[in-house]
Amino acid sequence: MTDARDSVSFLLGHAPREIRGADPTMTVLEWLRGKAGLCGTKEGCAEGDCGACTVVLAETVGAGLRYRAMNACILFLPALDGKQLITVEHLAERALHPVQQAMVTYHASQCGFCTPGFVMAMFAAAHTAPVVDRGAVDTLLAGNLCRCTGYRSIADATLDVCAAPVDDQFTEAEATTLAVLAALPKGPLALRHGGRRFWAPDSLATLAALVEAYPEAVILAGGTDVVLWVTKQFRELDAVIAIGGVAELRELTTDGGVLRIGAGVCYTDAMAVLAGLHPALGELVRRIGSVQVRNSGTIGGNIANGSPIGDMPPALMALGARLVLRRGVVTRELPIEDFFLAYRHTALAPGEFIERMDIPILLEGAVLAVNKVSKRPDQDISAVCGAFMVVIADGWVADIRIAYGGMAGVPARAPAAEQALLGRPWNEATIRGAMAAIEEDFSPLSDMRASAAYRATVARNLLLKLYLDHAA
Ligand SMILES: Cc1cc2nc3c(=O)[nH]c(=O)nc-3n(C[C@H](O)[C@H](O)[C@H](O)COP(=O)(O)OP(=O)(O)OC[C@H]3O[C@@H](n4cnc5c(N)ncnc54)[C@H](O)[C@@H]3O)c2cc1C
Ligand code: FES
Ligand code: FES
Repeated sequence: MTDARDSVSFLLGHAPREIRGADPTMTVLEWLRGKAGLCGTKEGCAEGDCGACTVVLAETVGAGLRYRAMNACILFLPALDGKQLITVEHLAERALHPVQQAMVTYHASQCGFCTPGFVMAMFAAAHTAPVVDRGAVDTLLAGNLCRCTGYRSIADATLDVCAAPVDDQFTEAEATTLAVLAALPKGPLALRHGGRRFWAPDSLATLAALVEAYPEAVILAGGTDVVLWVTKQFRELDAVIAIGGVAELRELTTDGGVLRIGAGVCYTDAMAVLAGLHPALGELVRRIGSVQVRNSGTIGGNIANGSPIGDMPPALMALGARLVLRRGVVTRELPIEDFFLAYRHTALAPGEFIERMDIPILLEGAVLAVNKVSKRPDQDISAVCGAFMVVIADGWVADIRIAYGGMAGVPARAPAAEQALLGRPWNEATIRGAMAAIEEDFSPLSDMRASAAYRATVARNLLLKLYLDHAA
């Protein structure tokens, strides 16, 4: 990349900043607290779970600014490029910001450690969609934990201040901010720090050439898995290729009964479209991580990490999704179930990456059910996730696809259970036969999330639930 820039440019509050020569695998949290002297942003878990480190990234979308809450502990520094980084310090530049004042009014802070994170999550919400009821508050704040105040007063403050768009110094300054953001240097990044290299190409062709030339490089999408390799496993990533700047990978289009989702589309951007395809998919995405995690994480990363408990693969298998993989100028298509070869081992060849997911739109009469079973409803990883696509015609099973996560070393279809259903009458006896057949499909393991016996029981009972929910 001959035209690439070697520094990260962004707005810190309202002031332009340029960072050159820093470690590109330093987190935004480490930079804020350790280098910028902005310690209002707290470190709680340092793994995306508690929300204490929540900051807001504003970026130009269309004619305006879009504000999103992010966990600074799971963002590498180059993610700031071209954006406005807003921390709790920037809110009270004049007087307390309305979201801060609401926290005071409702007595919603005790020790205060979690408060900057809550305030920033509320600030982003106050600049986006109105928060209208307690359910919406719970979804909004599922990624922010408080150990001492209790949530009712925080929820009351949120409902009060986020019910309508807030007018503040950021809205007032919007035209200036847009102009300053537009004037920031643009184009691909090629950063160096000692022997470490970090590329952020801005076109699909350049990305493909880089991944082919450096097959050992780590591909970085939202980083909600990759950043933890550095911060929790202390891995040194010598070569990283970020896909976030590639516009082609952020496309979401419908074409001939197929929804095409680029590998760089984050959950938040995909959620409404997936919910429109089927409510079960929207609800599944709503339960992935938290708002902050969904603002960064991608479906492509959820598939490529090869985890047996990623939530999207079972649903995409049930829908018959196909992956488009690219190596250089060559692409190939793969049914998603053929992608997972063994525990965390996928069909990606060296130099290859996921370009997009093609998801068939359900035909009239097809039913999709997806059930994620985890210890907590929100911000938790599945013990078992079952996904079912069934077509019933005149009381008979005309088509069926069943897939589970958490039941084996890879997410997988359940062929014996499918055979026990296909072409048979849709009744409880048939379902009980399929429940028994699950045993031929899987021998689950016991681990910290669930025992083998629990998983097997849940997998069987999810089939029964499918029948009971859709018996009519
Ligand atoms: C607090 C928290 C909560 C979470 N909750 C859930 C949850 O409820 N359910 C769930 O399933 N997961 C959850 N996760 C895991 C994670 O958020 C998801 O797996 C997410 O989808 C990963 O996407 P990403 O874009 O962040 O991937 P990254 O971290 O950027 O990458 C993940 C892996 O995929 C590879 N990769 C990424 N994109 C591509 C590509 N286009 N081609 C080839 N390889 C690629 C990377 O090299 C890496 O190996 C959670 C994580 C955190 C931190
Ligand atoms: S410190 Fe807990 S989410 Fe970042
Ligand atoms: S006020 Fe103490 S952790 Fe929330």
